[in-house]
Amino acid sequence: MARKRRIWYNSCTMSKRKIVVTSALPYANGDIHLGHLVEYLQTDFWVRFQKLRGNDCVYVCADDTHGTPVMIRARNEGIAPEELIARTHAVHLRDFTDFQVAFDNYYTTNSPENKEFSERIYAAMEKSGGITKKTSPQLYCEHCQMFLPDRYVKGVCPKCGAENQYGDSCDHCGSTYGAEELGAPKCTTCGGTPVVRDSEHLYFELEPQHAYLEKWITEHTTSDVSNKLLEWFSEPLRGWCISRDAPYFGFEIPGHKGKFFYVWVDAPIGYLASLKNWCEKNGQKFEDWWQDPNAERYHFIGKDIIRFHCLFWPGMLHVAGFEQPNKIFVHGFLTVNGEKMSKSKGTFVNARTYLDHLPPEALRYYYAAKLGGTTDDMDLNLSDFVQRVNSDLVGKVTNIASRSAQMLQKKLDGRLATLAGHEEELALLQKMRDGGETIAKHYEERRFNQAVVEICRLADAANEYFDRKEPWKTVKTDAEATRITLTAALNAFRILAIYLKPILPAYADKAMKLFGESAWTWGSRDAAVEGVALGAYEYLASRIDSKQVDAMIAAATVKPADSGEVAHESRASKNKAKAVATVVPLKPEIAFPDFEKLDLRVGVVESCETVPKSSKLLKFVLDAGALGKRTIFSGIRQAYPEPEKLVGKEVVFVANLAPRKMSVGVSEGMILFAGEPGTCGGAVSPTSASGAGAAVT
Ligand code: 2FM
Ligand code: ZN
Repeated sequence: MARKRRIWYNSCTMSKRKIVVTSALPYANGDIHLGHLVEYLQTDFWVRFQKLRGNDCVYVCADDTHGTPVMIRARNEGIAPEELIARTHAVHLRDFTDFQVAFDNYYTTNSPENKEFSERIYAAMEKSGGITKKTSPQLYCEHCQMFLPDRYVKGVCPKCGAENQYGDSCDHCGSTYGAEELGAPKCTTCGGTPVVRDSEHLYFELEPQHAYLEKWITEHTTSDVSNKLLEWFSEPLRGWCISRDAPYFGFEIPGHKGKFFYVWVDAPIGYLASLKNWCEKNGQKFEDWWQDPNAERYHFIGKDIIRFHCLFWPGMLHVAGFEQPNKIFVHGFLTVNGEKMSKSKGTFVNARTYLDHLPPEALRYYYAAKLGGTTDDMDLNLSDFVQRVNSDLVGKVTNIASRSAQMLQKKLDGRLATLAGHEEELALLQKMRDGGETIAKHYEERRFNQAVVEICRLADAANEYFDRKEPWKTVKTDAEATRITLTAALNAFRILAIYLKPILPAYADKAMKLFGESAWTWGSRDAAVEGVALGAYEYLASRIDSKQVDAMIAAATVKPADSGEVAHESRASKNKAKAVATVVPLKPEIAFPDFEKLDLRVGVVESCETVPKSSKLLKFVLDAGALGKRTIFSGIRQAYPEPEKLVGKEVVFVANLAPRKMSVGVSEGMILFAGEPGTCGGAVSPTSASGAGAAVT
């Protein structure tokens, strides 16, 4: 009769740790993309590792729902913010689930628990004397009827003069400033010029915690992070503005009508709220997790949000008497093929677009193989991705199982041998087990790349054993010896699959079923499955093809919209225009979504000159800020006899019009000019037809 023999080695006697883990809360106004997944996947690897080791670990997250972008997006869609965030929540959760990211709770910051914690923490901040009030000038858009957050205004950097910079910092020189300091500010929503209005705001003063925070940062962040942060401690810490004026989607600040908590106040509090909500749903006490000094708390974050997590957040927790996170784990950004993700190159890939073309395991494996627990940026090199998944995950690890299981089942009734007395085989399995502690250490320290290297090294040893034994030959001459070989190879694979379980949970589950088992822990590697029939072999991982990658990139590429055409119009006299207007028929009405396809940007005319042999064209070079320079040919020469006078003017242009090759050069967009239809003598510009006019500002 088949029997299952398990040999247990020194099982782990360490006591269980209690661990709360978070990933940064994604904004509720956008899709999850491959950049986000750098964080969620590594957090998931770590959490799954902790659980596999037998620790009590809770992974909480939520959508970050408050703030201006959600409010404006909902307004544009004509729906309530609550409707938008409910929809996004479902989409985000589906993306995460399909990537096998297993949150214990995926909540929302727009929750009663979060409101309560936010009010409680704010009351403590007030009580500590840490809240001050300051009136300061702010940019207000009269058209949009709102104060403009930093990212909703663009203008000229007050330090270096670079154009098209946001209201908080300059991409060009790196300096930070107040939005009201920008030169020539423009509201990014409506393009209007905002006015300066005074508004009183609440500030959370950090200077009283100077010494506390300095010490905290040294102890709770890695040196590359603390070195950067500690630079700020050479002078008094500045207060942090924590209020925003209505209209604002968020929590109103108690006692301050019309003022709301800035989204970055209640976002990290959302960690507590999600944990509390999980506790309520699971018969647990919040205090036993967050307030127990013996429990551990870790935040995984990207390096762009260090300031919020390593300065403001510990400052808030401290005055409110909450326990602190034990460590903040900071990672770098994602690059694709060595460059920043780009929509036009198709490398800004949403989670769903990826899943439409490729299996989640491939990305999980590749990210693990690249992540080393540092703040260095991580590159997704697409050809390396295909190559590594195919050669290592499929060719090295999975191959051991597929070759052995299929041969055992086809040729030897699928029954495993017992290995007692077979020294070489027992030594092979011992080698697999011996690698385990090193791998565990790498996991614990978030050196997933090193864990993968070690697993592959062990897989090499298993493959070397398999190839040396040549079971494809011996199966014809010595069935029982072959059964021994295959049993050893399969058990070696089994141990590797246990090691890979945090990275490849669905894969490991299928492998587990192959061995007829129902639950694996890290300690399961000490057992061997022998003398029993192997389960049915389910496909574990398949090779990926660069064609799948190409299709994904094609699907992610944002093509310049085929946006119809917008005319260039001259500034001809009204009388003439009137006369002409009666004979130029209006084009058919267009729907709003057609109009929305146009990406209208502001550029500054750097040069403007006549084009030899053309009586109609002017050649413009625009400085389009972050878009770089644009050369555009416009058929408006007759309206501008002195083109050099346009230099320095700001113009609105269609930035996403497909470039047009003309006899005089390539025109990269279309400038919009106010005027009357037909006054240029028809559709003179190759990029124009008669129709709507726009403005020279
Ligand atoms: O940067 C972001 O995407 C934020 N939504 C992260 C918030 S993390 C935490 F503080 F909530
Ligand atoms: Zn506006």
